[in-house]
Amino acid sequence: MPRALAAFLVLAVATAACDSAPVAPSTSPTVATTIEELALPTYLDPNRPPMDRARDLVGLLTIDELIGQMALIELGSISPGDITAFGVGGVLSGGGGAPLNNTPAGWVEMITEFQDAASATRLGIPIIYGTDAVHGHGNLAGATIFPHNIGLGATGNEDLVEEIGQATALELLATGVSWNFGPVLAVPLDPRWGRTYEAFGDDPDLVGRLGSAYIRGLEMTGLAGANRVIGTAKHFVGDGGTVWGTSTSGDYRIDQGLTGGDESVLRQVHLAPYRAAFDTGVGSVMASFSSWRQGKVHGDGFLLTRVLRGELGFGGLLVSDWGGIDQIFPGEYRRSLTQAINSGIDFVMVPYDVDLFVTTMRDAVEAGEIGESRIREAVTRILTAKFEVGLFERAVPVVDAGVVGSEAHRSLARRAVAESIVVLKAAEGVLPIDRQDSILVAGLGADDIGIQSGGWTLSWQGRRGDITEGTTILEALAAVTAQPPLYNSAGRFDSGVVADIGIAVIHEMPYAEGVGDSESLTLSEESLAVVDRLRPRVDTLIVIQISGRPTLLGSEFDEADVFVQAWLPGTEGAGIVDVLIGTHPVTGVLPIAWPSNLSDLGLARVQPCDHARFPRGYGLAADGESLAVTACLPG
Ligand code: BGC
Ligand code: BGC
Repeated sequence: MPRALAAFLVLAVATAACDSAPVAPSTSPTVATTIEELALPTYLDPNRPPMDRARDLVGLLTIDELIGQMALIELGSISPGDITAFGVGGVLSGGGGAPLNNTPAGWVEMITEFQDAASATRLGIPIIYGTDAVHGHGNLAGATIFPHNIGLGATGNEDLVEEIGQATALELLATGVSWNFGPVLAVPLDPRWGRTYEAFGDDPDLVGRLGSAYIRGLEMTGLAGANRVIGTAKHFVGDGGTVWGTSTSGDYRIDQGLTGGDESVLRQVHLAPYRAAFDTGVGSVMASFSSWRQGKVHGDGFLLTRVLRGELGFGGLLVSDWGGIDQIFPGEYRRSLTQAINSGIDFVMVPYDVDLFVTTMRDAVEAGEIGESRIREAVTRILTAKFEVGLFERAVPVVDAGVVGSEAHRSLARRAVAESIVVLKAAEGVLPIDRQDSILVAGLGADDIGIQSGGWTLSWQGRRGDITEGTTILEALAAVTAQPPLYNSAGRFDSGVVADIGIAVIHEMPYAEGVGDSESLTLSEESLAVVDRLRPRVDTLIVIQISGRPTLLGSEFDEADVFVQAWLPGTEGAGIVDVLIGTHPVTGVLPIAWPSNLSDLGLARVQPCDHARFPRGYGLAADGESLAVTACLPG
């Protein structure tokens, strides 16, 4: 029984006993003993609609309790004691945020401790726990890591993406988490942006379709009588349209910058995927760090209220991004907070200083800068989400830990990898490769789970190395070839070593957000050098590129007989090998236009071939035949 309900029963029984005392004849029992007789308060009645329950509960809260509910605090900045003291509404894992014991049991234990602290508040309102499961439950060791969204965009497969959403929801629930900060609905127009890989592609329609499919899988995982997960469409709005050089955040160049184009571009390109997501019914939206018409979106009431609520009719909760409110008027926290809440932010990803947030909010409310009705509206939405995911019935979801990194999920991820592969160049007769052939493999990325997974994997930026369980490309290859391939990460083999086939895996090092903004849009010389070293030793050269985005292609492309774009595949490298050996056909096509040079970037692409080396939709089958769109001829 939830603690709040238990408290209510005790209170009701005691009250009934007192009330009846003076008139009760000693013979008949007058104390109501069943829930039915006690008339359960609306908010505790699981049969009432979530919104009604939320409205009822909001009516019982003091202003301090309301403000506490609006605080979303980062895991490392909150203690169970603070949760009780401030009545905090939610806790989140930032990139890499996890309990010391990073196992499903460790997560459940941590969240249970937070929920116990929350149940010790006056009304025992549970917290909601959120994390960025943007390609599977990336903060959890041993989770299934799916291809980043750009690779899923290449599959174009809604059913597959829906299944991935569902698998992700199950792995989240197995750790007690009910809120995912995904999917990203950005439409990246300049691949120099470090978040390009978080997006499904640069076609608003594709982004909308796959985003909706993901939400269906994530949110509709109907476990009878148990908890659910809500998703977050992010970052509203214009995050993918920022202009190179406009960022004012630290060293960032384009991430968090100013969105270009007029209002029709904003609507037709960046807003469009949200319409699809809202038709599906996503539970939350996250505001964008970027600016629109010089002002930060976090303080833009036109976008966050008039457009989001009025025009698009979004009824869920609107969460701010990591310290995003602080950026509205730098150095003026109260003014920024007032602006953001009055613009429509409901839940504040503070993320560090709960005390400062609560005090500043209280001052702003007392001074009449933020109205109590706006606060009640915000908290109604937060509580509605908590009721929707079932936290009042069960504060810590229960799903068997066996789903985490399960065979079924890994094979789904492997299939997604195979479907995400895009072949950009294919000399006849190379694919599929003959498993009897001798093979030389080169490149750090050939044997590295961290590199193939990219950012948002066990840490915010991601990192190379054996960071979690999975199968590297080399391991997968060795499992299917007649003779074990010879491998050297730098492509340096003894003199005289030659082979039928060379596989050079070239890569971007993992990165996330603006840290990955790339001025040159090329791989490192160190990574590219393996292509030159391998070429003279092999009859046929296959180049596999691990990158979160299109790059400007040079001799690595010209020297290759086959060039494979593998995106950031995640933990299941075997999906790449399935395509190489032909047990899975090549079906992926580019979800984003591939630029030919720097001057093409950031320019509108009206026709498929405008400013593109390969248009969106381009891709070859194993035999080199075009799958859909033909290449853009130079000139
Ligand atoms: C990112 C969000 C993310 C949040 C929490 C921010 O820096 O922009 O996408 O959900 O951090 O990790
Ligand atoms: C967190 C990320 C967050 C970033 C913003 C990192 O420390 O892990 O989640 O997006 O800070 O600067």
